Amino acid sequence: MSQHERFDPEDHPELEQTDFDRLTTKGVSRRNFLRGGAAAMGLFLAASPLAQAVAAATRPAPSTLIGFKAVPASTADSFVVPEGYVAKPLISWGDPILKGAPAFDESGTQNAAAQAGQFGDNTDGMSFFPLGEDRALLAVNNEYTNYEYLFAHQGKQDLTADEVKKSQAAHGVSIFEIHRNAKGEWQVNRDSDYNRRITAYTPMELTGPVAGHALVQTAADPKGTRALGTFNNCANGQTPWGTYLTCEENFHKYFASAQDEVELPSRDQRYGLKAGNRDYQWYRHDERFDLAKHPNEPHRFGWVVEIDPMDPTSTPKKRTALGRFKHENAALTIDPSGHVVVYLGDDERGEHLYKFVSRDKYNADNQQANRDLLAEGTLYVARFSANDGEIKGQGEWIELSHGKNGLTAENGFADQAEVLIFAREAATQVGATTMDRPEWVAVHPDNKAVFCTLTNNKNRGKDGQPVGGPNPRAKNNYGQIVRWWPHNGDHTASTFDWDLFAIAGNPTLAEGLYAGSDNITADNMFNSPDGLGFDDAGRLWIQTDGKYSNKGEFAGMGNNQMLCADPQTGEIRRFATGPIACEITGLAFSPDHRTVFIGVQHPGEDLEPSHFPAGGNSKPRSTIMVVQREDGGVIGA
Ligand code: FEO
Ligand code: CA
Ligand code: CA
Repeated sequence: MSQHERFDPEDHPELEQTDFDRLTTKGVSRRNFLRGGAAAMGLFLAASPLAQAVAAATRPAPSTLIGFKAVPASTADSFVVPEGYVAKPLISWGDPILKGAPAFDESGTQNAAAQAGQFGDNTDGMSFFPLGEDRALLAVNNEYTNYEYLFAHQGKQDLTADEVKKSQAAHGVSIFEIHRNAKGEWQVNRDSDYNRRITAYTPMELTGPVAGHALVQTAADPKGTRALGTFNNCANGQTPWGTYLTCEENFHKYFASAQDEVELPSRDQRYGLKAGNRDYQWYRHDERFDLAKHPNEPHRFGWVVEIDPMDPTSTPKKRTALGRFKHENAALTIDPSGHVVVYLGDDERGEHLYKFVSRDKYNADNQQANRDLLAEGTLYVARFSANDGEIKGQGEWIELSHGKNGLTAENGFADQAEVLIFAREAATQVGATTMDRPEWVAVHPDNKAVFCTLTNNKNRGKDGQPVGGPNPRAKNNYGQIVRWWPHNGDHTASTFDWDLFAIAGNPTLAEGLYAGSDNITADNMFNSPDGLGFDDAGRLWIQTDGKYSNKGEFAGMGNNQMLCADPQTGEIRRFATGPIACEITGLAFSPDHRTVFIGVQHPGEDLEPSHFPAGGNSKPRSTIMVVQREDGGVIGA
């Protein structure tokens, strides 16, 4: 479970009387589920064209792309892969990656300096950068940390100054070299000069339209150009010019105050900032995290950060032109026109889906010339419309540029920097569609279709979040995957067509929309799709961050998992299952596609009984798994 939901009792339906009956649409066939769903939602839709339209989009057929035998749902404390595959841990939270760093010690008493030389916690998005046939760098996000395991006192005490520093060092990004030995096994090279830790206190440069603006100036940085650190790095992106993109998500959780109340403008409150967010306790010993003292500091977070993994001395660059929100990943593609296009989700209930188009064009012959392409460009936000009676339709990208579409001084936007810093407010101003928590975006290798996980949204149907379009279910606890096709294959175009590739659900318990689309079966069901990525052959890989109670409306789904889909036929097959109370997030393929690296994040969160990966009585640890085939074949084929 991602941390943004950890303390919300409403997110633990197994603890409550289930209201599942109210949500299901009894008495309709699955193939006609949209008719039932529409009736349940109080919509007036023609039944047959609607059912046909979605059935056509999602009807599964035998896949020639996918060759492995599905694994069953699991509640075991292990990482399970298909027959003929092997999975081994590569690295776990606390393993040393810098020279001189100590080995992991599970007592929880290691200090900040130790953590700063070790792999960070909560492995998330990652990218593979080849250095040669059998050598590569992995750049990996360390999204957050679990105090119940980080400290011997489990976070139940006020943190000391060193403990705040240790927490900050458990966050950020880890970059390390890996090599493949004669047996074909990948291992970490702990002595490599490339190895680097980037933490919540690593100096970074603010670039683009926001750099130097009054709203990012602070006492420590009166020029507003040099921020310290990155944290809550969720998912990632990779550029063809060899850099890594790390995306700052729930930055609001780290800002608090010793004061009971701090008055903040509503545009700041919209990001969840408030004095009472004290779980991380950083404000106790690092004054910049006290909102009462430094109200501009949070404006320096919530960005996409570009890192050159090949130069361990390089300064990471915050790319403000891509907007400030709770970034999930950064799905980058080169449009046929040569512009760099980056698709971006803002993971919060009822927030939005964005697209960045670079001002300048990509130059395949001169990678050095591409290095600042993400500094300047145009940001857009999506507005979806549905065909009459269908869960598919058209959409448009609305430009978020100062002076256009009502983004004017009269409406509260003094300049482009304000549009970008308060991108959420700008999106509302232009009438963007509220989404069911946009998570990862992935561009199909044919560069024509784009997919995005909408993980879930218990608030759909209330709070100004209407049911309809790509968000077709009230109290959406299962999630769906939307896909769109830019018109004429042009990612810079302002219009697109869309449908839903999959609607997750539970066909063993429900009918209608809550049973899911026709490609969801008793054998592959899951909830809360989150991580998403294509391999070169066009297989779509789906990772989940959902409810693992295996009870009530989630019965039969088991632990979080990874699935593989064929976008042509719609078939979805379960590939792997994770240990107890983990999330599966982060994936990277070796260029030959004979190895896939998969992230197992926070096994045993909230003291659930996991001992993954070491077993016995050991402390559970976030771990990257290396998965290969026994016959050395291509993953998934
Ligand atoms: Fe970090 Fe939206 O998951
Ligand atoms: Ca998530
Ligand atoms: Ca995620």
